[in-house]
Amino acid sequence: MEPIIAGNWKMHSDPSESRKLVQELLEAVGDVKERIVILIPPFTSLPCVGELIRNTRFKMGGQNMHWERQGAFTGETSGLFLKAVGCEYVILGHSERRHVMGECDDVINKKIRTALEIGLIPIFCVGETDGERASGETRRVIERQIKEGLKGIESEVHKMILAYEPVWAIGTGKTATPEQAVEVHEFIRSMLKKPSTILYGGSVKPDNIDVLMKEKEIEGVLVGGASLKAESFTRIVRFKR
Ligand code: PGA
Repeated sequence: MEPIIAGNWKMHSDPSESRKLVQELLEAVGDVKERIVILIPPFTSLPCVGELIRNTRFKMGGQNMHWERQGAFTGETSGLFLKAVGCEYVILGHSERRHVMGECDDVINKKIRTALEIGLIPIFCVGETDGERASGETRRVIERQIKEGLKGIESEVHKMILAYEPVWAIGTGKTATPEQAVEVHEFIRSMLKKPSTILYGGSVKPDNIDVLMKEKEIEGVLVGGASLKAESFTRIVRFKR
């Protein structure tokens, strides 16, 4: 399986900034082989990014979706709409959705089910907070998130991507050490019924990507801040093992 490098732009880049970034990236790494590059822009940039990457090696994902396919859900977006503009992936269970927007495991489980039903590949994120790690609860938290998030769909885990993103490492500049990441990746893998790809996320930067990707347990990365600049994302895509 080729390593996955996914760039989560979060609530950054309006359509014209997105266009510029994609053009720069296509020039810099549009021809890169042996990597799966997934761009995950905000909803309003999806149509223009989708157009620009059509017939290229880049893939596209959404940052969230509703668990229903359509209906009276003001402010929400259907996974079907994401597909219609060219998304193949959708991030679900991101820590900012869990901790800032109050999404619980049950909601995340419903969204993962729908994503699978409609043919989107969920990038299912799990991770412990600073306090949970400090009090030795990392495994307990990860176990709960995995069990509840995959409830009833355990045997479909091979159709998803998982991402271990320690909350204390997201946007903080504090990356997990390769040992810390590998330990949790192995723990997650031990809980899964079938093999699945597991990414690491949390302050991935040009200066730590090589050491992270040396670990065979780390099958790719989910990048936030460093995916917003063509230069830093290019270096990450071109990591050296
Ligand atoms: P970061 O974000 O790289 O800015 O820490 C990662 C993420 O939230 O996916």
